[in-house]
Amino acid sequence: MDVVVAPGPEAARIAADIVERALRTKEQPVLGLATGSSPLAVYEELARRHAEEGLSFAHARAFLLDEYVGLPEEHPERYRHVIERELAERVDFALGAVQAPDGNAEDLAQAAADYERAIAEAGGVDVQLLGIGTDGHIAFNEPGSSLASRTRIKTLTEQTRRDNARFFDGDVDAVPRHCLTQGLGTILEARHLVLLASGVSKAEAVHQMIEGPVSAMWPATVLQMHPHVTVLVDDAAASRLQLGSYFREVRAHKPGWQPW
Ligand code: GLP
Repeated sequence: MDVVVAPGPEAARIAADIVERALRTKEQPVLGLATGSSPLAVYEELARRHAEEGLSFAHARAFLLDEYVGLPEEHPERYRHVIERELAERVDFALGAVQAPDGNAEDLAQAAADYERAIAEAGGVDVQLLGIGTDGHIAFNEPGSSLASRTRIKTLTEQTRRDNARFFDGDVDAVPRHCLTQGLGTILEARHLVLLASGVSKAEAVHQMIEGPVSAMWPATVLQMHPHVTVLVDDAAASRLQLGSYFREVRAHKPGWQPW
């Protein structure tokens, strides 16, 4: 696990560099996109590179991590719409290249299985962007999630619904209780995981993810089992790391041959 302690704008540039490298070197790159506030600066930077430097997404495909169940089709907080606003409409993805689980399917279990198949048929995800919840969830894999889980229906915790109420005018009751989410096993199959976290509210989850025992109680700890993870955290999110000064030292003396 490569842990980089860097201020937000620098973290966003590093994550955008990783995405850009996949876009420039792979014939059919597959991106994994996250919603939430953590990746917003990355999308901003990617949109800028598209507009100013000709970075193209035309040959890429993308899969979202998760989707609420039961929000009306046109609801602006459906993750499908969120990602359209934040990235897809600002770059040049081909029509239909960005997919999300269908949280309004009549048969949700079938929709989950279809989503797994679509990711596999695309050749798997090359670069997966991730945020982390204050309770240690990634995508919507809440505490107690199987570390081998696949895309499925989950029930959100009260804490996650409270955390996400800010996207629903502060109204917790407006936040759906259920979602479809890629499983931890699904996420682990992506070839490079890039997790961003900022702010002191994430410090405990970041500490557990990097330094805690691997446990379903802190689902993000499963990232310790993945061979290629880049964690980008600001000082506040890194504030509970026991190895914080070591990670800073590693970065200061990073040999030129070590890739991100
Ligand atoms: C949401 C999303 C996650 C996201 C997390 C953190 O519930 N399903 O994918 O990583 O919360 O969100 P934020 O980045 O806004 O703190």
